Amino acid sequence: MIFDEYKKLVNHTLEEYFEDFKKNAQYEKTLFESMSYTTLLGGKRLRGVFCLEMCRIFSGFYECALPSACAYEMLHAQSLIHDDLPCMDNDDLRRGKPSNHKVFGEAMAVLSGDALISLGAQIIIEKTPREIKRETVLNVVNCYLKAAGAFGIVAGQCADIEAEKSEKAISAQHLKYIHTYKTSALFEAAMLSGAYLGGANADKLNAVRDFALNFGLLFQIYDDILDVISTTKELGKTAGKDAKENKATYVTLFSLEGAKEKFNELNLKCHDILNKEFSSEIFTEILDKMCERVK
Ligand code: IPE
Ligand code: IPE
Ligand code: MG
Ligand code: MG
Ligand code: MG
Repeated sequence: MIFDEYKKLVNHTLEEYFEDFKKNAQYEKTLFESMSYTTLLGGKRLRGVFCLEMCRIFSGFYECALPSACAYEMLHAQSLIHDDLPCMDNDDLRRGKPSNHKVFGEAMAVLSGDALISLGAQIIIEKTPREIKRETVLNVVNCYLKAAGAFGIVAGQCADIEAEKSEKAISAQHLKYIHTYKTSALFEAAMLSGAYLGGANADKLNAVRDFALNFGLLFQIYDDILDVISTTKELGKTAGKDAKENKATYVTLFSLEGAKEKFNELNLKCHDILNKEFSSEIFTEILDKMCERVK
């Protein structure tokens, strides 16, 4: 399958899951609207597609990874909803529309984020086809929960906020730590889950971890570069926000040129892993597109 076909599949299945939600005799309507608003607004669907592609690489059927792919998009949507809150990055625009808290208020944005985390885990458990061993499902849920919490995004977001408030410049090593947790952790969990569901062996799981870590670092640098070189319209979120909020990024630490150098270094590393470990047009195409945009 090509990227857009995977993306359609993820979008369509997310819509289906939210329709199912409404079939419950009793559900919180505003909560539901807030949860589905940011999730269904779209986005590139990288984490969902990467989960499906890893499953394919290891010879699994996409149906087996589809619930997990959607769960990771729910978790990603949660991370964006909370990231935009006034107490975090204070961003009014997300995916080209007003941020969740601008539409539903801060309390509802906090609650819908919380509910998305648990709905994602519930979907993996309830919707993964029964022919997948329960032990594999447990491994996937473990990846998901680890990425969602204190050993994943939450740890990274904590360090990100602390760095923003600090007067001292942070080290490159500390910045890498922040990016590893706030960004790579989710890519790693989505890709590892796809690999587990496809039936990857221990050696290949390590290669997937290595690729996802480097891809996540590359992706956060890419996002930080775009924040400087793109417009709000192109991004669908407020451009120039990192400097305004005193965010620690590769651009603020090493200048735009330095950030691009680091981006190129990580791009080579990702290609290297791909060449050695698994061939995938989807990953190669995404990397090429990203290179083209930050050139
Ligand atoms: C934004 O991720 C958050 C970062 C990790 C930088 P994406 O750029 O993948 O966001 P969407 O899903 O396309 O909106
Ligand atoms: C986001 O980093 C990482 C998350 C966990 C959401 P950013 O704060 O740079 O993401 P954007 O630029 O708001 O999408
Ligand atoms: Mg942030
Ligand atoms: Mg942000
Ligand atoms: Mg950003």
